[in-house]
Amino acid sequence: MLEIQHLSLSVSIEGRRVEAVSDLSLQLQPGRVLGLVGESGCGKSLTAQAILRLGEHQGVRKTGGDILLDGASLFDIDQAALRKIRGGRIAMVFQEPMTALNPVFSIGSQIIEVIRLHLDLDKKQAEQRAMDLLKDVGMQGVAQLLKQYPDALSGGMRQRVLIAMAMAADPDYIIADEPTTALDVSVQKRIIALLLNLQKQRNLGLLLVTHDFGLVAELCDDVAVMYAGQIVESGPVMEIFDHPAHPYTRALMACRPEVFEAGQALQVIEGQVPPPGRWPEGCHFAARCPLRQHDCEQPVAASAWRQGEHHARCLHVMQS
Ligand SMILES: Nc1ncnc2c1ncn2[C@@H]1O[C@H](COP(=O)(O)OP(=O)(O)O)[C@@H](O)[C@H]1O
Ligand SMILES: [Mg+2]
Repeated sequence: MLEIQHLSLSVSIEGRRVEAVSDLSLQLQPGRVLGLVGESGCGKSLTAQAILRLGEHQGVRKTGGDILLDGASLFDIDQAALRKIRGGRIAMVFQEPMTALNPVFSIGSQIIEVIRLHLDLDKKQAEQRAMDLLKDVGMQGVAQLLKQYPDALSGGMRQRVLIAMAMAADPDYIIADEPTTALDVSVQKRIIALLLNLQKQRNLGLLLVTHDFGLVAELCDDVAVMYAGQIVESGPVMEIFDHPAHPYTRALMACRPEVFEAGQALQVIEGQVPPPGRWPEGCHFAARCPLRQHDCEQPVAASAWRQGEHHARCLHVMQS
């Protein structure tokens, strides 16, 4: 199991260290898909990257909590052990396939490098594995493809290559940060179907980071809704979809494009996510919340409202 326990992260903004993720807990289990959803700027990527300690060279620091892989802290290990876990046990698929691929190396050499970093295979075997992986992600003419460079491929094809690379060492967990946001809608659906297929076949634990609640409803077993550095609601996706508790979750769900008729204006949530350093002392969503009351000015506990596995950080839950 991959567990984030009470994680807090700080970043540096205008020379000041400010909290950007606050007391965040979530669990990822083999064979399950967890959606981490929220508007842009809520701290989803900071959280996703913290799992592999990728933000450290961009000034992101852990100020509290821990991340455990099978019970062992990812913060207690040295760089060599961390490199083995990255890609070996936990792999990432990023939003922007072009920045994740190196334009000056062929597709083949990039996949083979990952394979040989983690698996004890000779060059020939690694090349065969690279071709098998590319077939697994739906590519054709794979021998030819190995010799091509990233800029010869479309966005969707590049994302398939990245997914193949993520699968290279048979990881147990995949962290996919907005894996389809940069792609055309028709391509998005195919890439998501591919990811989910691989997840099921290989019994992967998948963390799907997205701003799209529709995607969560379709694909995830569990969901954690994030707002301004905090989880504000979490639980089984069916439960939350049928009975959203937090006003922010309700607002996000009301903004899904698929709930609108053609020609109708898309709804948006009024106002903006407060950035790190500008969070209010009480409920982070209060300024935008239609149900706001005086007591929302006090800090609200993560499980202020609870029904079984369904938790919400809200004092005024109004369930449908
Ligand atoms: N390395 C960093 N240094 C300073 N601020 C950062 C850094 N990374 C992210 N932030 C800020 O933290 C907030 C959350 O960012 P991010 O995790 O990228 O949000 P999301 O992925 O939910 O859109 C944003 O306000 C962003 O500007
Ligand atoms: Mg992001």
